[in-house]
Amino acid sequence: MAMKSEILTFLRESGDYISGQELCDHFHVSRTAVWKVMKQLQEEGYVIEAVRNRGYMLVENPDVLSLNELKSRIRNRWAGKEIYFYEETGSTNADAKSLGEAGAPHGTVVVADKQNAGRGRRGRTWESPAGKDIYFTILLRPEFPPDKAAGLTLAMALSVVQAIGAECSLEAGIKWPNDVVMNGKKICGILTEMSVERDYIQHVVTGVGINVNLEVMPEEIRETATSLFLESGKKTARAALLQAVLKKFEQNYEKYARDLDMSSMVADYDACLVNRDSQVRILDPKGEWEGIARGINASGELLVENQAGETVMVYAGEVSVRGLYGYV
Ligand code: BTN
Repeated sequence: MAMKSEILTFLRESGDYISGQELCDHFHVSRTAVWKVMKQLQEEGYVIEAVRNRGYMLVENPDVLSLNELKSRIRNRWAGKEIYFYEETGSTNADAKSLGEAGAPHGTVVVADKQNAGRGRRGRTWESPAGKDIYFTILLRPEFPPDKAAGLTLAMALSVVQAIGAECSLEAGIKWPNDVVMNGKKICGILTEMSVERDYIQHVVTGVGINVNLEVMPEEIRETATSLFLESGKKTARAALLQAVLKKFEQNYEKYARDLDMSSMVADYDACLVNRDSQVRILDPKGEWEGIARGINASGELLVENQAGETVMVYAGEVSVRGLYGYV
């Protein structure tokens, strides 16, 4: 790790003063070199107090999203071990795809502060203004067959909910299969794209957009979308939340790749499923119908009780699900 991100890690984790001398000894550099790094960090927005005879202390960790900030935080075995950060890009999914084609390793993450061509599902665009939200994509090289890939998106949705709980102490839910919602509105969307060759997966990219600190939702989506800030009144440090998402995802992915199904996550997933035990309308191209959602099975299918009292397994690829009164 570069000295700057390592110093950031030290400052953040100590929560106290760290003497300049200690840092000099550790990095084998001069006091001036340490001072220069502190100065750069201050210019980037970190509030660092320097007190004679005591050293340096990070008094405020602002919402800085940068390569150094991310590198100073992420300690996973593979999720985010290689990380790319762009102030501005077209789409992190497109970037991750190119990296995948160029041979980048499993777990490579691309993060952007702003996207000019953010992609949503079903050909929609994803609003991606600067300085407010999280846009990232993780490149995966699973060793399982293509028909198992859909579960990765569900595992990611669960990871996002768990990270929001752990990092922001807020309770989010999942609208099956993979929208993360709060108070009936969407705060996070996930787009998984897969490159398949013959019968095996070349690579998968799972892209995640989280509405974090956005204060004003664009008019067109105000009815159905919201941000963590709008729901809680609290600002969140994006890098900390992203760190938490990647940590959870590494764990959930490993469970999924081990079992090749969601069996170890069904209980957690169902616990945050907002459609659970409520009336849903299944928008099946072969005909719409209504029933009561009961939870998912190990394949990630939604179990819906129809009017005849039978349980029908609904597969995510074919249909979408709506509540009877609005989006959830
Ligand atoms: C949806 O329609 O719900 C999925 C939205 C996915 C948006 C994210 S933002 C980061 C990544 N890059 C993209 O272009 N899209 C995904």
